[in-house]
Amino acid sequence: MLNGDPLYQHSLVKDFTPLNQQETPIKILKAGCGFGMSSLIFIKDLIAFYQEKKRLPRKPFEITLLDNHPSVFNTLDTIQSLMNNSVAKYYVKIHINKCDLSALKPSETYDFVMCNNVLHYFQDDTSRKMVLDNMISSLEPYGQLFVTVDDQSSYEKGETHIPPITKDKMISLVDGHVQSQSIQILDSFWSENYPKYTKSIGALSNGLHILKK
Ligand SMILES: C[S@@+](CC[C@H](N)C(=O)[O-])C[C@H]1O[C@@H](n2cnc3c(N)ncnc32)[C@H](O)[C@@H]1O
Repeated sequence: MLNGDPLYQHSLVKDFTPLNQQETPIKILKAGCGFGMSSLIFIKDLIAFYQEKKRLPRKPFEITLLDNHPSVFNTLDTIQSLMNNSVAKYYVKIHINKCDLSALKPSETYDFVMCNNVLHYFQDDTSRKMVLDNMISSLEPYGQLFVTVDDQSSYEKGETHIPPITKDKMISLVDGHVQSQSIQILDSFWSENYPKYTKSIGALSNGLHILKK
């Protein structure tokens, strides 16, 4: 069980709070989700959690799986169809967004955005900053962004030719938002305290945990 996981803590507090009269579900975006494996882990643990409590969530969580690569589309469609036609639909509703991360619409907002090992596909600081800006814009107030990047090891082993994004670089890419106090960096983890979080957030090695204000 993932009780130490900030995603669970935030989501469940929101779900259980009696004063929470909001009609909207808890919305999660998996940005660059690949084949959706970490989402399946999340759903499995979510169902186990509620079954243990012998209740359903107040509203099904909504997860949007976003990726732009056609090789994953069939798998994502299958996940959507299986989940939305099974008992899982009482816990979570799946949406698929086959689009480019740079085309995120600011009108679509999320309580959590998870972007694991995607940023290195954007090879210069300008495009990386634009994607980070887009993801920050798509957060609800007090929404949270987890953005992780490849660690040094795959570069050192020659598995990728793209140099890893350093902690200082990542922080500098969001610094404008920190200065304008629109976000707060809750955590920055660069291998030293790995593994920090659990698999529902994704394969975490190096990254930032950001709170929108
Ligand atoms: C290394 S995989 C990581 C998958 C998943 N986040 C995980 O941690 O297992 C990177 C994914 O990002 C997707 N991706 C890369 N650039 C993207 C873009 N501009 N828009 C949407 N998805 C993108 C790729 O298609 C790929 O599925």
